[in-house]
Amino acid sequence: MITVIGSINMDIVCQTEVFPKQGETVLGNRFETVPGGKGANQAVAATRLGGKVKMVGAVGQDSFGPVLIDILKNEKMDVSSVQMAPTSTGIANILLFEQDNRIIVVPGANNYVTPQLVDANEQVIKESKLVVMQLEIPVETVEHTLKLCKKHGVPVLMNPAPARNFKTEWMEDITYLTPNETECELIFHEQIETSLQAYPNKLIVTLGDEGAMYHNGEHIVKVAGFRTTAIDTTGAGDTFNGAFAHKICEGADVEEAVQFANVAASLSVEKFGAQGGMPTIEQVEARVEESRL
Ligand code: RIB
Repeated sequence: MITVIGSINMDIVCQTEVFPKQGETVLGNRFETVPGGKGANQAVAATRLGGKVKMVGAVGQDSFGPVLIDILKNEKMDVSSVQMAPTSTGIANILLFEQDNRIIVVPGANNYVTPQLVDANEQVIKESKLVVMQLEIPVETVEHTLKLCKKHGVPVLMNPAPARNFKTEWMEDITYLTPNETECELIFHEQIETSLQAYPNKLIVTLGDEGAMYHNGEHIVKVAGFRTTAIDTTGAGDTFNGAFAHKICEGADVEEAVQFANVAASLSVEKFGAQGGMPTIEQVEARVEESRL
């Protein structure tokens, strides 16, 4: 089982062809509220691919909270450790512009993902094949979970987003770290190649539609991405992480897991919404098959 300890958000998405300057108002052309949050997204990605997933998180006591819990339940993941917190649900204000996005997250209930909630799930963590975290929950919870995982010898996949909260001393207790290029530079303050070399088979840097790279102990490996026509890239990184986690739990090595995650991420950008395009295992297999023809 994969345990995801992370954020659950409602994504409030505006698509625009003109990006507003400071103090300017522009007219957008699409508005939707769709489920998101890096934690929930990664949990959904792994579940759709056939992974057994438990979500540890929190939503608010507003109209978004129960809707988001139902959505996760419908994905057939275990939501028994998703709490209702006495505040508003986390939201992400997403501007879609020129096939890319800009996101502001207001954590709300995600701040109630506390060390106490993690402790209440200690047995679950102990029995997990992998614990997956991101940085949209409190830093003390992340630190506490890392200690607990270390105590029980459970591997940790950390997607360090948003990267500002990351502490490099955590590297010792992390099994896989998956920043994008910007996050990698923000965390290590050096050339990406230098960081990759320092953390072989541990640091996997995602490169958008270019794929991902890591160091295999001998040299840097770049695993090419699958080119496709993107409708919405929100959640592509989360799909990569969920797929990578699932494949690693199936016993794959880093190279195989990255290849698989690249394919899943390429499918995810073909539909609107962070979770909208996350593929099933059949869809990933079909794309791999197509690429062989
Ligand atoms: O990674 C994409 C996600 O980041 C969105 O779903 C949004 O909720 C933010 O957490």
